[in-house]
Amino acid sequence: MQFLKPNSVTRIFRNFYNFHKKTTIFYSTKTKNDSNSNPKKLPPNIPDLREFLIVNRDLSLKSNKSAQINPDIPGYLEKSDFSGRDRKVFFEVYGCQMNVSDTEIVWAILKENQYQKCDDPKEADVILVITCAIREGAEQKIWHRLKHLNAMKTKRSKKKSPLQIAVLGCMAERLKTQLLEKDQWVDVVAGPDSYKDLPRLLSLTSHYGQSAVNVILSADETYADVMPVRLNTEAPTSFVSIMRGCDNMCTYCIVPFTRGRERSRPVDSILGEIKSLEKNGIKEVTLLGQNVNSYRDLSQSSELESENNLVPGFKTVYKPKIGGLRFGELLQQVAEAVPEVRIRFTSPHPKDFPDSVLEAIKNYPNICENIHIPAQSGNSNVLDRMRRGYTREAYIDLVKHIRSTLPNIALSSDFICGFCGETDAEFEDTITLIEQIKYNVAYVFAYSMREKTTAHRRFVDDVPQEVKIERVQRMMNAYRKGAAELHSRMVGQNQLILIEAKSKRSDAEWFGRNDANIKVIIKDCDLPVSSCGGEDKKPITSGDFIAVKIVDSNSQVLKGIPLHHTTIQKYHENFKTNRTSSSVK
Ligand code: SAH
Ligand code: SF4
Ligand code: F3S
Repeated sequence: MQFLKPNSVTRIFRNFYNFHKKTTIFYSTKTKNDSNSNPKKLPPNIPDLREFLIVNRDLSLKSNKSAQINPDIPGYLEKSDFSGRDRKVFFEVYGCQMNVSDTEIVWAILKENQYQKCDDPKEADVILVITCAIREGAEQKIWHRLKHLNAMKTKRSKKKSPLQIAVLGCMAERLKTQLLEKDQWVDVVAGPDSYKDLPRLLSLTSHYGQSAVNVILSADETYADVMPVRLNTEAPTSFVSIMRGCDNMCTYCIVPFTRGRERSRPVDSILGEIKSLEKNGIKEVTLLGQNVNSYRDLSQSSELESENNLVPGFKTVYKPKIGGLRFGELLQQVAEAVPEVRIRFTSPHPKDFPDSVLEAIKNYPNICENIHIPAQSGNSNVLDRMRRGYTREAYIDLVKHIRSTLPNIALSSDFICGFCGETDAEFEDTITLIEQIKYNVAYVFAYSMREKTTAHRRFVDDVPQEVKIERVQRMMNAYRKGAAELHSRMVGQNQLILIEAKSKRSDAEWFGRNDANIKVIIKDCDLPVSSCGGEDKKPITSGDFIAVKIVDSNSQVLKGIPLHHTTIQKYHENFKTNRTSSSVK
């Protein structure tokens, strides 16, 4: 999975930090379906149990317990009290694309409740930090940032314009009230399934000066009824979240604990959002989910109802999931609904690549020929300890099958080194896998032990840090070598790119991305409006589809000569691109 690049609002982290405190369990009053329809509404002004999730910070700190209920606080407010009264919010987003997509949901909810957005934390009344807990380094960086924000808050309180700090996302879910125990830095803690409750949580703290927490994970919240409001309105690309949660329980991973159980958003709501994005000029959508290809819309039946979708040689910790509209059918419906919008998806699990998904990629030119297929390790014993549900051989067989169906497919992967007990010989298998498969892109990580996971209970984090760092470097070198080779084979090819923005290096250049999601740099110029040539020319701009000829490459970037403006459908007609035959010379 791709992580955010550092800029003013996003950062990535590498260091380590340890938490030893136990998490606190809150009461959950959520029952199945209560987010969608609640037939028995409580009479007004009768607080439900969730209203009591106000944490009395003074009490909890004095008694050194994680959370306590203060019986003196009424704990409920009129709906009109939820108004942001034009207070300004600033978003700081960390972690993966799901957090970016969630931030757009949060912004939609707050905007609806009379909050304004600002681009400078100094101007903000509320700072929302959307956090990640995947590795300890990610959390340590967020703690540093919270310390800094707290200094801002202290300064502000002297000037009598209070600043509220809210911690959202996976670290909020993992640490729950532990986040409140640190010198009163944080006012609101909200887990990934409680964003609809944010206006209430924020107003509780502004009305009562108390910290408020909602970290209840839901079995069915998909935010299908919230139309996200985009944060970056300049970009021609957008994320669309289609499912949430993960049932896989890989032994190293915190995500099932921070994001909860798998659930899918109904297909109609997804199609509605994508069509509306298309109307607003979006040219590429990335379908998102922690296990995007495990998508299963249970509100729809399907012809493939009785089929188990699992790839041969792959197993899961849960019983086979039968029924519902699956990912292959969703891809097909999306591709048909918006033929001039490019479609990508992330992050998939290799077990859920049935032929219906490969067929959809083969048949629809607007679905990018690009698959993320996280291997994590190349050694079957390590994969077994990781509980990935496949062997090295099953993974290689799957890649062979994918490449025989789609010879031009670009592949990317995630790898972890230094997992508990990983020997030098076991690690060598990861290197040989990377060399054998050859990926266009790979994300490589040093293992970071997470509390609550099976690995934390059963295994020892015994690979020294310096060995992990050395192994990360070796994985990086191996993947770069393979990527350079794959990209050099693209030189001479005609490709379709979607222009994203001016190149960072020069105003006289644009960059776009090809199907493989690799950056292609081209010079700025006026281009023929179609492949027929002619006098009619127009300038290049963000969101244009351009046909290019690739002339240079390295492991990360390609250079191209721009040929002409085009559309997805015209390009594939003109160049008669055939996804079943290899374009590699
Ligand atoms: N659902 C996605 C994973 C999202 S996390 C998937 O299965 O692909 C993104 C990546 O972070 C994982 O693929 C894994 O490579 C890495 N990762 C997860 N837990 C980790 C840990 N404890 N230490 C180091 N890397 C980890
Ligand atoms: Fe984590 Fe495994 Fe689920 Fe991915 S599939 S989110 S790595 S538990
Ligand atoms: Fe991080 Fe949560 Fe994404 S732990 S990687 S923000 S799902």
